[in-house]
Amino acid sequence: MYIVLCEDLATFGPELDRGRQLLVDMANAIVEARGPDAPSRMTDALTLLIRSADRQIQGEEALMEAAAFGRSAPHRRRHRQFVERLAEVQRSLSARQDIVAAQLALHHVFLHWVRDHVQRDDARLARWLDKRRDRLARKEEEAQDSILWARQRRPELRSSVPGAACVGWTQRGNAAK
Ligand SMILES: [Fe+2]
Repeated sequence: MYIVLCEDLATFGPELDRGRQLLVDMANAIVEARGPDAPSRMTDALTLLIRSADRQIQGEEALMEAAAFGRSAPHRRRHRQFVERLAEVQRSLSARQDIVAAQLALHHVFLHWVRDHVQRDDARLARWLDKRRDRLARKEEEAQDSILWARQRRPELRSSVPGAACVGWTQRGNAAK
């Protein structure tokens, strides 16, 4: 019942990508837990998994906020649902001590999370972030071109162009700082 993330998943950068893989590894370890102490180990592992999922989501939502992602409300809602479903698995395990039921439920939650959220919602967000980065890079390039253009045609603007090195001459002809 192993869940494996595809290698061509959309990326959010090394840290968040590693975090996503770690969540899947933790879920797989819980699903594979066996033995008499499995319920208590699973309860502890679920606590850690929920905390890690929360941290992962915070990182992703910080990205959305910084980039002013327009469709963040439904994305955030699905993040909350994911964590709530994990908490439900943990509550059910504590109440019933049925490890097989908890493992099946966790597998189900992750299957949906990977298929419906990671491969669809997160991929959409990653594409949007990529486009935005390209747009910002293009704007930056255009701004640099404009500065260059202004420097070439209006020498008197050289010292007033933001970021331009201020090099001039004193009245006595010495180089000024
Ligand atoms: Fe997400």
